[in-house]
Amino acid sequence: MNILVLPGDGIGPEVCYEAVETLRQLCEARGVPFETQEDHAGGSAIDAYGDPMPDSVIEKAKAADAVLLGAVGGPKWDDLTGAMRPESGLLKIRKELSVFANLRPVAVPETLAAASPLRPEAIAGTDLLVVRELTGGIYFGEPRERSGEAGAEVAYNTMRYSTEEIERVARVAFTWARRRGGRLCSVDKANVLVVSQLWRDVVTKLHAEEFSDVELSHMYVDNAAMQLVIRPSQFDVILTGNLFGDILSDAAATLGGSLGLLPSASLGGSVGLFEPVHGSAPDIAGQGLANPIAMLLSSAMMLDELEQPELATALRAGVQSALDAGLRTADLHREGQTTKAGTKELSQHVREAALKALG
Ligand code: NAD
Ligand code: IPM
Ligand code: MN
Repeated sequence: MNILVLPGDGIGPEVCYEAVETLRQLCEARGVPFETQEDHAGGSAIDAYGDPMPDSVIEKAKAADAVLLGAVGGPKWDDLTGAMRPESGLLKIRKELSVFANLRPVAVPETLAAASPLRPEAIAGTDLLVVRELTGGIYFGEPRERSGEAGAEVAYNTMRYSTEEIERVARVAFTWARRRGGRLCSVDKANVLVVSQLWRDVVTKLHAEEFSDVELSHMYVDNAAMQLVIRPSQFDVILTGNLFGDILSDAAATLGGSLGLLPSASLGGSVGLFEPVHGSAPDIAGQGLANPIAMLLSSAMMLDELEQPELATALRAGVQSALDAGLRTADLHREGQTTKAGTKELSQHVREAALKALG
């Protein structure tokens, strides 16, 4: 395994360090060769290279077996615009690696039901997967522009999807639905947007032609936002575009009580990108408070993708063990009910339990 590690900014380096250490120990225990290279991304790359994602980093990424990314961005770089923003660096590496399908699984284990903002009976049984289109839509659409005199400026972006872009991500989502509960809900805004009308037509056609064994439904995004917080257990796989997926997945992430829990895998090209859904959390950076679970579970998704299911299962068992033991970082801790742990302490428990699970 040859992994490019891009810790990035804020809490990115803190959670990345724990993930790499965990991967190293698991690989060592099974004699799996494990090598890492580390480089800058986002704000840290702006500071080091004057570019949030230099081509040299893209080259390293393309030569690796997988890329592990912490998070990018922060107040220090908030005045930058356009391609110089840390977030643009993230968009660039997604585009360059052609990782058009972003998988964001949300399962709320029994142990976290109490931390959910929803009532226990509303959260029970939640186990869904958001498949977010990641390299198209309004994030990348042209034309886009901001122009005009100060005080009378105009700006616009373009939400654009081609049939091919919709079809390839829909195929990934249908395939996952087949492997899971057999149900796919495609989320759009077809009552208003012509781009969503095409989206719906393409998904419907693909369903009829190749996936009629999967139960397909369509939902408008405003309703989907509401349904996610009323009865999330109704969903199996949610397929949606780049912008809607960004918003819905943050909402879905907090069903378990914290954004610090949700992992992701970005796939579709020859090298996968594995990153937590959360950002650089500038408000808690550098204090050892970050929840490492999203990053650790992103690493487990990487292990699955690199055909190390035994290591992935052990890592997930390690996370579950920490939760079962009542360990919680500050985002999830409840006085008198759970045991407060820092990033390091929780990660250490995960590692020990994962190694034990490996036997
Ligand atoms: P954020 O996800 O960084 O933080 C939102 C809230 O959740 C904060 O209160 C934060 O403390 C908390 N939180 C997030 N992750 C946590 C964790 N692992 N443990 C405990 N608490 C956690 O979102 P934001 O504040 O809107 O954005 C901050 C910066 O991160 C911005 O520059 C934004 O563009 C960037 N961002 C980057 C990514 C990424 O790199 N993939 C994703 C989202 C946001
Ligand atoms: C995410 C983030 C990114 C996105 C930003 C930082 C570019 O919010 O991964 O969810 O919008 O895709
Ligand atoms: Mn987001």
